[in-house]
Amino acid sequence: MSAPISWLDGIDVRTGRIVQEGHPQKGESIAGRIVRLRGSTGSTVGAYIFFALKRNNAAPLKIILEEPDSVTIAAELAGIPVELKGVKEVKLEDEEIDESLKRYLEREASISGAQRFARIKSVHISGVSYATIGEAGREWLSEIASKIKFKVTATTNPAGMDLISWRDMGIPEGFARKQVEIVDSLIEMGALPTFTCIPYLSGNLPVYGESVCWGESSAVAFVNSVIGARSNREGATKTIVAAATGYTPLYGKHLDENRVPDLAVYPEPLENLLHYYLLAYYTGLQYPDSVPIYNVKRASLAELKALAAAGAASGSIEMYHIPGITPNKFSYASKSIRVTKRDLLSLREELSSFDGGTDLVVLGCPHLSLQEIEELSELMNGRKAIVKFWIFTARAFMPLIERLKWKIERFGAKIWYDTCMVVSPLEELGIKKVTTNSAKAAKYLSSLRGLEVELLDIKEIIERYSAPE
Ligand code: F3S
Repeated sequence: MSAPISWLDGIDVRTGRIVQEGHPQKGESIAGRIVRLRGSTGSTVGAYIFFALKRNNAAPLKIILEEPDSVTIAAELAGIPVELKGVKEVKLEDEEIDESLKRYLEREASISGAQRFARIKSVHISGVSYATIGEAGREWLSEIASKIKFKVTATTNPAGMDLISWRDMGIPEGFARKQVEIVDSLIEMGALPTFTCIPYLSGNLPVYGESVCWGESSAVAFVNSVIGARSNREGATKTIVAAATGYTPLYGKHLDENRVPDLAVYPEPLENLLHYYLLAYYTGLQYPDSVPIYNVKRASLAELKALAAAGAASGSIEMYHIPGITPNKFSYASKSIRVTKRDLLSLREELSSFDGGTDLVVLGCPHLSLQEIEELSELMNGRKAIVKFWIFTARAFMPLIERLKWKIERFGAKIWYDTCMVVSPLEELGIKKVTTNSAKAAKYLSSLRGLEVELLDIKEIIERYSAPE
């Protein structure tokens, strides 16, 4: 393949055909072929599709990687051989680790050129939703759950439904049953039931310089960039292996040389949160595996989350820098680009397929922080929603937002925990058109859920879809 692939939404798992919009080989099949590629972009949950490809006889014969990529290397867990030129054997000396997991880590180290392993204390597990990992993923988790136990703190990404109020969401019983089985398997292994993509605000906060092993591409970019911990964009299935062993091979963003910026981005002044999403999405599209310096004057927590999520969704940006804000003090890169407001607005047009008349507003990709919920409740104060309004956040915040809830509920919005708009089966709930402020959600709501999407800033959303009380 001449361009990286987004495994989660770029391949039809029934046929092995490439369906990724704009991919040069769109329409070709990878089934039964030797596939050579540079790496992957987008979601870490893509690591689960290898099981589905295998089960459907649509898997490639072999993958030859040009660059180490944890998500693609995880194909080996599904029995698809992965190769990278010039690899050396690396041994993990620890008698207490399950032999097959140890062999996988050694293989990953060899493929990626790692010389040694890091002991890790923290894992964040992606690929928790039945809507994204499907039957093949559920079966793999249930099989492995009886064999392994986690050795380190392992938080979990959102599931496919609010685990308590799923009936109110309209989730079909059959889906709920399968989802609960996935959750049970994870808990049986020792996962913590956080079910959020902002683990760093929900009890799993690494320190500067610490090596961790996280799935969920937005959280990876956040810990690398804002906290200064070190993680690769880990394949979802690999996070299970790391949690059960406490090790990860040291390559990629664990190494100083791969954390140095190679692209300076100079945007016109950014006016709202949507502009931050669009700036990172634009950068990820143009320079998918770059380490950009975003030359912006300020960045709030919400804006830092937006930069992390969008650059990892359109590309595979695992880390960025902002002079004076992020902890690594870089201010120079050999290449530079200017991004105009017009660039951002035309990207917004590309990501939007309708203008007005939504079925549902969805906010909280990544999950909303306490600060964002507070600000949102202020924007909602004194107004009434005229369409269905859903917001998504971490269950850990539930007691903390009790005092704000009345404002949100009076406005007419519903708060869901444990899940999000992308990993819950919205298309099965009769929803066709959704409005969001997140460029990451816009991408996946269209490519994974098959919905029409409208992308607006929060203030525009409130203005358009609510009226004074
Ligand atoms: Fe989080 Fe779901 Fe977005 S997992 S980053 S809210 S797609």
